[in-house]
Order: sequence, then C-alpha cells, then structure tokens
Amino acid sequence: MIVTTRELFEHAYGQYAVGAYNINNLEQAMGLFRGNLGKLESTGQDVDPAVAAPFIIQISRGARGYTDKRMLEALIRAAEEVFPEAIFAVHLDHGTEEACYDCIESGFYSSVMIDASHESFEENVAITRRVVERAHAAGISVEAELGMLGGVEEDIEVSEEHACLTDPDEAVTFVEQTGCDSLAVAIGTSHGAYKFQGGQGLHFDRIEQIAQRLPGFPLVMHGSSSVPREWVDRINAAGGEMPGASGVPEEHYLPAAKLGVTKVNIDTDGRLVWCAVHRESFRDKPADFDLRTPGKVFMGAYAEFIAHKNQKLGSAGQLESLRAALAVTA
Ligand code: G3H
Ligand code: 13P
Ligand code: ZN
Repeated sequence: MIVTTRELFEHAYGQYAVGAYNINNLEQAMGLFRGNLGKLESTGQDVDPAVAAPFIIQISRGARGYTDKRMLEALIRAAEEVFPEAIFAVHLDHGTEEACYDCIESGFYSSVMIDASHESFEENVAITRRVVERAHAAGISVEAELGMLGGVEEDIEVSEEHACLTDPDEAVTFVEQTGCDSLAVAIGTSHGAYKFQGGQGLHFDRIEQIAQRLPGFPLVMHGSSSVPREWVDRINAAGGEMPGASGVPEEHYLPAAKLGVTKVNIDTDGRLVWCAVHRESFRDKPADFDLRTPGKVFMGAYAEFIAHKNQKLGSAGQLESLRAALAVTA
C-alpha cells in the first residue's frame, strides 16, 4: 500500500528512522520488498512481523531516465500487488523544479525532493516555495535541502572542503519561509563510497542544534550508506578496486533518529551488494552467461541486506504498529 510520506514520518518521528532506498531496476525492487517484509532465504519466513518495516522507495532523476520513468512506476505498481502487506511511500530524490512538477502532476508520488541547495539562500527559498505551493495543492509533501553535502550526486560534484554544514538558525528561517515538510541537512555525510575522507565524522551536535530549533520537524540524512567493509572486501577480492572506501557507522543511525532524523537515504550500499554479487558470479562461473544466475543471488542478498539495515534504523518490526495507527486514522 502506497501511503503519504507524512504518515510514515508521524509514526517514526523521534523513535526510529525510515529507510529511503533508491531503486533502478527489477532485481532491486524485488530484493527491496522482500527485505522490508522479512521474506528472507536465511529464515525461510513468509512475512516476518519482527523484521517487517515501512520504507520509502526513492527514484532519482538518473533512475527515471535510465530506461523510461513509466517502466519504474509500473514496476512499483506491480510490486504493490505482488506484496500486498507492504506499506511504503514513493519519493522523487534530488529533484529539479521541473522534475518535481512532473512527479506532482503524475499523481504517482507520495512526496518530492526539491534540491536547490546549490543556489543562494534566497534563490533556494524562492524555488522551494514555488514547489511547495504546487505540491501541497496536490496533497504531496516536499523535502528541501539546506547546506551542502560533499560527494557526487546526479551530475554535480562537491569536494569535501566546499561542503558546508546546515546553519541551525538559517534552517528555522528556511522552513518558515518555504513551508517545506522535511529538511535534508548537511551534517557531515557525503554521497558515494568515500565518506569522511577528511577524517571528520557525523556532527551529532549540529543535528541536536537544528532539532532543538525545529522540534517535531522531520530531518533527513542523505549520504547515509555505511559502505560495509565486508562488501568492499568482497568487491576487491573479486577484481574490484575500491581502496579506502568508507561510510557512516550503522550504530549512528538510531541515535540520530532519536534526535529527529526521520528519513535515512541509502543508495551506495545497495550498489556495493550488486557489484560484489555480480563480480563473484563472473569470477566463479566463467562459463555461465545467464543473467538470472547473479540476478537470483542478488535479490536474496539485497533482501538480507535491507532487513539488516532496518534493524539498525529501528524500523524493523514497526510495520504492524504502523498498520494499526493508519487504521485508526482512516
Ligand atoms: O544522491 C544521489 C543518489 O545516490 C542517486 O544517484 O543519481 O546516480 O541515481 P543517481
Ligand atoms: P549514499 O551515497 O550514501 O547511499 O546516499 C544516498 C542518498 O543520499 C540518496 O539521496
Ligand atoms: Zn542524496
């Protein structure tokens, strides 16, 4: 069941973080739904209430253009039928103004992100405000971004020295002036597989300062992949070259969630799982040319990975409580 992002946030705020996972293709979609429901090969369970979690599917502009946006949307509609127990939201990740309007008008999305964080404060406010007006008129919520993360996102690359943390006072003014529903904050993370190369970590003090000034307001942490050592080692052992890759320690997710980080964005980690599984398959089965061989392994591995992430986010086991809460307000 597709729900509004607002409904997910109301249930999660201050308790746990909702995992927001990017997808691009069928195998990712299958692994994502299985993992979020606890349908795992390791346990042989059908739906496991102790594991099952609400989640957000994120679609980036890159993902929309990879094949055709209608292919991804159809995939998600089909998954909703195949997995009727799932409760999730569909979100545009790092949208331009134009992409936001396209998603708002499609009637398919639960929420959009307008990312005008590379503009001046005033321009960011103006653009975000325009998107908020259009989105709210259609009953869709808006995530905006203030501050600048390092790393690569879509076609923009920001070096760590040019990244800047979100200013807590500016955040208050920004939320007041734009009417946005959640805010992506720069708190030390960056996109991709090489985080904290300057030696710095997650700025909990900054999260706390922003959350104190915006009580009850959902904050979003981008660049949240943990870049697990295990997966990087497997990639490197199978011919990959990812020296020095590192990410956000998974133990940081829940403390951040308790402070008000309600959505945690994870894309890179899923790509690492995909890369390791496919490299190993080609290495270990050189005569096999069936795309379903690594595909099957990947779907199972991705499901396990998602279930593990949700444990760390605190969203695992929350699905039935959310379902009950939604039934009360329905
Ligand atoms: O923040 C960026 C996300 O990881 C999406 O990446 O634009 O390559 O799909 P993408
Ligand atoms: P990662 O690169 O850490 O997975 O971040 C993903 C993200 O922020 C998507 O918006
Ligand atoms: Zn992001």
